[in-house]
Amino acid sequence: MTDSAARDLLVRLSRSLFERGFSVGSAGNISVAVDDGILITPTNSCLGFLEPARISKLDRDFRHVSGDKPSKEVFLHRAFYDTRPGTGAVVHLHSTHATALSCFADLDPDDCVAPLTPYVVMRVGRVKLVPYMRPGDPRLGDAVRALGGAHAAVLLANHGPVVSATDLQTAVYAAEELEETAKLLVLLQGRPTRLLTPAQVDELTAAFPK
Ligand code: 13P
Repeated sequence: MTDSAARDLLVRLSRSLFERGFSVGSAGNISVAVDDGILITPTNSCLGFLEPARISKLDRDFRHVSGDKPSKEVFLHRAFYDTRPGTGAVVHLHSTHATALSCFADLDPDDCVAPLTPYVVMRVGRVKLVPYMRPGDPRLGDAVRALGGAHAAVLLANHGPVVSATDLQTAVYAAEELEETAKLLVLLQGRPTRLLTPAQVDELTAAFPK
């Protein structure tokens, strides 16, 4: 994608996420791969009010080349680009229900967003829980790197989701799907709930590879 098309799309999709309550204040950060590097939201910026010319630009080695100072979680984004070939965008949000889920004490760390509906399996896949570390701690990137690219999305404990995909629109859709599934899981708490079976999950994974 060209630099200018990616800036426009990043501004539009970020504003849309903000306006629908998927991010508040200056929470969250989003990056997108362009022909000659990476664009990433500046640190402390609000997703609702990004300015195209101020978006941080990094070269292919993730060195800051222009725009405002990049998100302090650039290493988290880099871990996805480096370990998952074909990654075109990464979205990190503090969306309410996914963040609520990330605080549950009894999550399965290997599959922390239960397969409730087909779309979360198709769009997000199996989500790994990354243990709590403070925002901006480079060890968060090491933890994602240690997964060896096996997961398109992770949930940062007591913090929020990080979702990668081949392009920005797809990554945003996946982040929305993860949030909506987390909302359903929170709503259904305390109810006996029918999850998709392993065979149903396998069928979806084979039919819709990511
Ligand atoms: P940045 O403002 O540095 O991108 O950090 C925001 C955030 O969501 C931290 O988790």
